[in-house]
Amino acid sequence: MTDVTLSVLGADRLWALAAFYAENLTLRPRFTKTGRWARRVLSGPDHEAWLLAWLPGQGTEMHDHGGLARPAAAAVSVVSGRLTEYTVVPGAFPGLRRTGLERGGVSTVDDRTVHAMRNDSGEPAVSLHVYSPSLDAMRTYLFDETGLSPAAIKRAGEDW
Ligand SMILES: [Fe+2]
Repeated sequence: MTDVTLSVLGADRLWALAAFYAENLTLRPRFTKTGRWARRVLSGPDHEAWLLAWLPGQGTEMHDHGGLARPAAAAVSVVSGRLTEYTVVPGAFPGLRRTGLERGGVSTVDDRTVHAMRNDSGEPAVSLHVYSPSLDAMRTYLFDETGLSPAAIKRAGEDW
C-alpha cells in the first residue's frame, strides 16, 4: 500500500492566491448560454486555479470538493459582478446560509463544506477559484426539507 501525503494549503494562503490570481488574469472569460463556463488556468503541486464565468441565473449544484477520499479546501475571489454562496449548515436539521460575494471579495471554504454558488444578480459575473489539493472529483447533493442526500459523483474534466 502506498502512503500518499497530500500537501494542502491553509485558508490564509488560499485566500491570498485567489486574490492574486484574480488581479493578474491573462485569460479572458467566456459567457455561454448553456451553462457556466469554467477553465483550469493553473495547476501546481499543491493547488490549482479555475476561472469561471456566470450569466444571470447560472449556478452550481450543491456539492463538496472531493468527498472523503481527497477533500479539497478552496477560496473564491469575485473578479466582476456578484455571486451568492449557499452553504449547508450541518445539524439534525441542516440549514442553508446565504452569503453575498461582491467584486473583490474572497470567500474560503474548508474541505468538509457542502455548498452551491449562483449568479442571482442581473449582470454577468466572473470568479477565480483555488483548490488545494487539486480536484479529482466532486460529489453533488440534493438538498430539500428532508435534509442532504448524495446525488452523483463528477470526475475532473467534466464541466463543473
Ligand atoms: Fe465549490
